[in-house]
Amino acid sequence: MDELKHIPVLKDAVLHCFKDINRLILDATFGGGGHTTALLEQNKHIHIIGLDTDPDAISRAEGIRDKFLHRFQFFHCNFSYLKLLCRKFDGILMDLGVSSFQLDQAQRGFSFQHDGPLDMRMNPHEGMSAKIFLETGSEQELIRAIRDFGEEPQWRSVVKQILSLRHSTSFETTFDLVNFLLEYTSLRRSKKPGIHPATRVFQGIRIYVNQELDHLQSGLKQAFECLNPNGILVVITFHSLEDRIVKQFFNEKCGKSLHCLDAEPRQFKQSQASLVFKKPIVADDNEISSNPRSRSAKFRALRKNS
Ligand SMILES: C[S@@+](CC[C@H](N)C(=O)[O-])C[C@H]1O[C@@H](n2cnc3c(N)ncnc32)[C@H](O)[C@@H]1O
Repeated sequence: MDELKHIPVLKDAVLHCFKDINRLILDATFGGGGHTTALLEQNKHIHIIGLDTDPDAISRAEGIRDKFLHRFQFFHCNFSYLKLLCRKFDGILMDLGVSSFQLDQAQRGFSFQHDGPLDMRMNPHEGMSAKIFLETGSEQELIRAIRDFGEEPQWRSVVKQILSLRHSTSFETTFDLVNFLLEYTSLRRSKKPGIHPATRVFQGIRIYVNQELDHLQSGLKQAFECLNPNGILVVITFHSLEDRIVKQFFNEKCGKSLHCLDAEPRQFKQSQASLVFKKPIVADDNEISSNPRSRSAKFRALRKNS
């Protein structure tokens, strides 16, 4: 466990975006505090509030507080409640998805590469584990997870086999699920080089049990409300579903056209913000080779109007 670490993705871009901030920053996805530490080290004047929904982040945050004392405070909290902090920030960072701490610990049940209890909750005290979801989810809920959130082309076979075999199958562990997919569904014929056949199913179930997209929609709205004028919101996404939500939200705040009902004309809203970069920033080859997790990262930043 001591060996586990998480390399912060696109750290230089985060530091660059927040370099002129001298007051308060919110790290809404604290994780292991990689970005927080780099920001606190870059500028001796800033204070940071960190949030994470994962209770394991609490002890990591204590280490950062010991080092930076009153400049850092942590709350164990989902960012979809961030308005309850009743604070205004000059910068807010949302580095979405799961951390390496979560992926690499078998007992958290996130990974098809490590055998552990099939859980996948970022906060294991809330909601339903992946095991219970597979055992009790309705057909529509399974389709939502595997087709819509996992974007798994073979979703029909996966859903059908879960529904017909779940009464005689055990979904206790991550390897139970992997073996089930490889034995009973059409994923056994999947031969995409370098991509494990269970990747998309695991992603879809994880997004479903953590309600990741709902929290993102709500967190973005609250983050924008809690920004001071001129404040910057940075969001790093790791798959197209998240990125689409962020892109749409940013465009809307910039007053770009919204597609309504086909018959209606496009609506134009007043701009409340501007994009800091026209295109999303992505990791370069050096970063990808030293941290493969950065391969799919997209970094977008929005500045609230003054
Ligand atoms: C990619 S990691 C962040 C890593 C962090 N930036 C670092 O450098 O160590 C994402 C973290 O966000 C947390 N998280 C995901 N969704 C969240 C939510 N809705 N509210 C609060 N934390 C969330 C996860 O538990 C995880 O620890």
